Amino acid sequence: MAAVSKGGVRVPALLLVALTATALLLFFLLPALSPGRSATSTTGIACPASSPVGTTVASSAAGRSPDPVTVTKEDVSWLRSQLDLNRLGEPPSTADQWHALRKGINPRTRAQQLEDFRRYKGISHYEGADADNHTTLSCPGELLVEEHHSNYGEPWAGGRDVFEFLAGASGLQPSDLVLEIGCGTLRVGLHFIRYLDTSRFHCLERDELSLMAAFRYELPSQGLLHKRPLIVRGEDMDFDKFGLPDGDQYDLIYASAVFLHMPDQLVWVGLERLAGRLKPGKGRIFVSHNIKFCSRLGSQECERRLGNLGMEYVGKRMHDSLLFNHYEIWFEFRRPKA
Ligand SMILES: C[S@@+](CC[C@H](N)C(=O)[O-])C[C@H]1O[C@@H](n2cnc3c(N)ncnc32)[C@H](O)[C@@H]1O
Repeated sequence: MAAVSKGGVRVPALLLVALTATALLLFFLLPALSPGRSATSTTGIACPASSPVGTTVASSAAGRSPDPVTVTKEDVSWLRSQLDLNRLGEPPSTADQWHALRKGINPRTRAQQLEDFRRYKGISHYEGADADNHTTLSCPGELLVEEHHSNYGEPWAGGRDVFEFLAGASGLQPSDLVLEIGCGTLRVGLHFIRYLDTSRFHCLERDELSLMAAFRYELPSQGLLHKRPLIVRGEDMDFDKFGLPDGDQYDLIYASAVFLHMPDQLVWVGLERLAGRLKPGKGRIFVSHNIKFCSRLGSQECERRLGNLGMEYVGKRMHDSLLFNHYEIWFEFRRPKA
């Protein structure tokens, strides 16, 4: 009986070991053998069994729908709700109230910041043998303090409004090809560059300081160098410098606060050279503020000259700013057929 009982004890114990081993084997083997299941890595993060991580990230990024370009009513309601949630009431209306809100701390002016850059050659500067500049592409203090954001008078934030209007009005897609005439310090252009695919933003700009600000400060500080915009220095409306490959044509050409500063004759030279580079049907030219280059000729003569170029005037549009009391007038042109 003891042997039996001993044996009785010994047999179930062996069985138990065998069953446990089988169960463990099945537990570890089955998921790996099953083709449709995710394998679990040692960190516990589930990874697709069949495709490497890089491929998954790349394909999901490529398949992602583009970011929206216009603000919706829901966006504004959400913003209001967040202001409420954080108990951020109306902003102060007097200098004293602003001062109180700053708790007595005064913001440093651009001039003061610039003075520091000059005095200390940077912010956390090296001394002695290490005093040589360690910055890869040193940016002048004048640009670092963003003086160029005020170069053209209008608030920097207005660049986003212009982008949203133009992108909406032209039905912009990331793959579109866009030309800005006179992009200045990229107040508007930055938003296009961010939205468009690589190398799809072109600009012709004549001003040295604006170009310096664009290349040495705006593109690097906005993380947009990888977008490789084609920004060319010139003032003669010479677009041959852009050399469009494979008969590519512009989906959108715009001049924001530029044509009003140009002689009419030069604007017409530009339109002549651009007519064949604008995509027939979809392509649009938008000009802000006024079209005196046209109205000074009289409407019939203007229409005739546009017609000779295969272009037509579509109409006038207005758009409001989201952030400040301002509206802008835009004039739309197109090339009906090839
Ligand atoms: C008022 S700023 C507007 C800049 C930019 N479009 C914006 O909205 O912020 C006018 C710009 O047009 C440029 N410009 C004027 N005439 C030009 C020309 N003939 N060729 C290229 N750029 C020109 C100026 O240098 C300046 O950057």
